Amino acid sequence: MKFFLDTAFVHEIREVASWGILDGVTTNPTLVAKTGRNYREILEEICSIVDGPVSAEVLSLDFEGMVREARELSKVSEKIAVKIPFTKDGLKAVKYLSSEGIKTNVTLIFSPSQALLAAKAGATFVSPFVGRLDDISHVGMDMVRTICDIFSNYDFETEVIVASVRNPIHVVEAALCGAHIVTVPYSVMELLLKHPLTDIGIERFLADWKKAFGNISLLDAIK
Ligand code: G3P
Repeated sequence: MKFFLDTAFVHEIREVASWGILDGVTTNPTLVAKTGRNYREILEEICSIVDGPVSAEVLSLDFEGMVREARELSKVSEKIAVKIPFTKDGLKAVKYLSSEGIKTNVTLIFSPSQALLAAKAGATFVSPFVGRLDDISHVGMDMVRTICDIFSNYDFETEVIVASVRNPIHVVEAALCGAHIVTVPYSVMELLLKHPLTDIGIERFLADWKKAFGNISLLDAIK
């Protein structure tokens, strides 16, 4: 499973990129607004850090506007995947843009039927939002499982990005569903690293070493 970071904060992207496990980045208007920075500058900086796809979202809701914005966004870098909200105009725009070779990520997917239509239109990615469905007492991951089954039934090339991720369980379940990608906020990324028994274990190993050998370092001990 590929790991994307769901953020527009460049310092978070640099940090996770340094862990060696970052495959791409997703942004949205809310995340960009949080930075207060110029959108183009952010996108250029992100594209200089990550090798994989970088999602950038349109604001227009009509077909012509979406296509115009998508063309401009895709000029920023060949890594850009244009995020298009799932609407009738969005669907048309995805069909059109895919014929121009522009990568698309259909966002705000809340049902398997929406994902199926987006894939038929030629979307590069679909982004089902699990957390927002969980918030209204639906099991978001059930939708992801169904989408993954449908896509593999028909060998769609469209990749599933599990989005609106709120906790480590979402990440593990995305992997169990066989989703291609999970996009994770930085806070959840940090939680994925943590286990109290790992911390306790490290503390105990170091304490036992110190009890037996004092301050002798490992490098001195194996000389
Ligand atoms: O980038 C789209 C998605 O991940 C948003 O998540 O937490 O605002 O529902 P959230």
